[in-house]
Amino acid sequence: MVTGQSSGHPSGQSSRQLASQLSGQHYLAFAAESDSPNQRLVPLTAQVNAHQHLELGGMDIKDLVTQFGTPLYILDEQSLRTACRQYRDSFQRYYPGDSLVIYASKAWNCLAICAIVAQEGLGIDVVSGGELYTALQAGMPNDRIYFHGNNKSVAELTLAVEAPGSTIVVDNWLELETLGELVQNRSLAQRVMIRFTPGIECHTHEYIRTGQIDSKFGFSPEQLPTVFRRFQDFPQLECVGLHAHIGSQIFELQPHQDLTSVLVQAFQDAQTAGLKVSELNVGGGLGIRYTESDDPPSIAQWAEKVCTALVTACDAQGLAYPRLICEPGRSLVGSRCVTAYTVGSRKEIPGLKRYITVDGGMSDNPRPITYQSLYRAVVGNRMGDPCDQTVTIAGKHCESGDILIHTAQLPATEPGDIVVVLATGAYNYSMSSNYNRLPRPAAVLVNDGDASLILRRETHEDLIRFDRLPDRLGKLS
Ligand SMILES: Cc1ncc(COP(=O)(O)O)c(C=O)c1O
Repeated sequence: MVTGQSSGHPSGQSSRQLASQLSGQHYLAFAAESDSPNQRLVPLTAQVNAHQHLELGGMDIKDLVTQFGTPLYILDEQSLRTACRQYRDSFQRYYPGDSLVIYASKAWNCLAICAIVAQEGLGIDVVSGGELYTALQAGMPNDRIYFHGNNKSVAELTLAVEAPGSTIVVDNWLELETLGELVQNRSLAQRVMIRFTPGIECHTHEYIRTGQIDSKFGFSPEQLPTVFRRFQDFPQLECVGLHAHIGSQIFELQPHQDLTSVLVQAFQDAQTAGLKVSELNVGGGLGIRYTESDDPPSIAQWAEKVCTALVTACDAQGLAYPRLICEPGRSLVGSRCVTAYTVGSRKEIPGLKRYITVDGGMSDNPRPITYQSLYRAVVGNRMGDPCDQTVTIAGKHCESGDILIHTAQLPATEPGDIVVVLATGAYNYSMSSNYNRLPRPAAVLVNDGDASLILRRETHEDLIRFDRLPDRLGKLS
């Protein structure tokens, strides 16, 4: 089973039957009783105004599109801050020891988001020199930066070493040796954690499953004793703890609970081997609601389960509570953002299908073509109209698989209408491309009736800024 991939409805009616009786408001009302942003299909501030337009952060979708164009990522600041606070406060409430929530910025790394999570007291997980550089430029304090990655270059490791107080999560032998040599003559010790594969499988897409033994990430459990011993040769490496991450878009709580036991056992082994470990990082992975049938636990429920499991495991071993770190990505930004597109051409295949095409697609959201991910959409300027049309929402790329939503229930649309795909905050912009030389969309941060540009729309000039035309090729005039 692949968790989070179904599209049925708990009422027993198919989502198509149900949506044809409803308007786009249905998605706003869905799970509206939950205050956990990852359980909602839409950002917390989403509402419909008197013009029957979608409003986010107090901004009318039509005004946003007029001002900033489409495709447009629209990020709701209030929802993002709420999710950060729920994580931070839940860990403080349920864990008696010290804790730190770090944002897995691979979900969406840009200056504005790094700055917001830093303001909310969170740290950051980065996986490349580029993500690290962005976090530093955004003002993230070094001691809240954790650097992951299974093939960090010497240049990337150097960048981290030159941010004193940052932590490098060592993934493999080559990295351990390289880093050991890099820091051997430095006066300050370099903080490191060790990543290993805990041997825990969970129900999610195989591409985003990482905890199983057959994974490209981290040391295998049986390598750990040798790894622990190797630290004797590198006095400038201060091993502060252990890390494991089991996967992404997970709805079950049990695998996270199991993980804490495995981590605590490895933690004790590290102590026995003489390492002064004091931190445990349980990774991220909490899922979000992309469709009505997705049913993830709330942020508070997830935090409570993880904290309680760690306390129980520590108490059972008589262990002082380590500093607990978790690193959510998707559940922090996923449903805080939507993508607005303009409807263009359409194609009817009588008796078979009705396509409507939007002005973006797999370049701004590669998840449907990569993971067969499901999404919901509304027509932002027709929120009161009945959703009585079954359509396929296609992107504009030269690729038959460039379909954003295979079966969408929408009101009748015309060219120029605004299709809004929901829950596009995680792994959309960060996995976007210039395929077919489409400029990347802009992104705006909305809050309390204000919209601020956080990513400028790329231009055609941007697309050729790294191209070089060798003189011998000349230029046809
Ligand atoms: C090491 C690590 N930590 C955290 C995350 C974040 O996971 P999620 O976005 O599911 O919370 C990932 C994502 O794959 C990861 O690889």
